[in-house]
Amino acid sequence: MKSQSIETKINIYTFDELNLEIKNLISRAKSAVITSYSPYSGFKVGAAILLENGTIFSASNQENAAYPSGLCAERVAMFYANSQQPQTAVTAIAVAAYTKGDFLDTPISPCGACRQVLVETEVRFGKPIDIYLFGTKEIFHIKGAQQLLPFCFVKESLK
Ligand code: THU
Repeated sequence: MKSQSIETKINIYTFDELNLEIKNLISRAKSAVITSYSPYSGFKVGAAILLENGTIFSASNQENAAYPSGLCAERVAMFYANSQQPQTAVTAIAVAAYTKGDFLDTPISPCGACRQVLVETEVRFGKPIDIYLFGTKEIFHIKGAQQLLPFCFVKESLK
């Protein structure tokens, strides 16, 4: 038998350590929580997508009385960005979550389905997507969606 381990590297930053472009991206993700439609969970999530031409698209989670019909902020934002500018690569995403009157101090991480969508966009444009997960105490940075979803199913798998 042989075994193999896959490691995920996470960089941890304070807000002040980030450059202006990423600070701005995180601010857009934080602002987007205001637009969250989350009457069932009360958990408001904002996501902001940065394109390689500098454009930012932001969006929030949208829930539904039929629970599985709702969608996470990351996928609403990603599908919005890709449908507005289908030829432009995504370079980064920022995510912020707000509940019970405050942003979380420790970041949340995208769900499995969102990771799959992030990987698809990464493969589609052939560029790793920088992921910034906002918390008031610390910000997690993951260099590439495949770090969050190792050994994943991609278009090559279909061949
Ligand atoms: N949610 C997101 O929008 N993004 C995440 O990364 C985790 C969860 C949403 C889905 C649902 O509307 C609410 O948060 C509670 O799960």
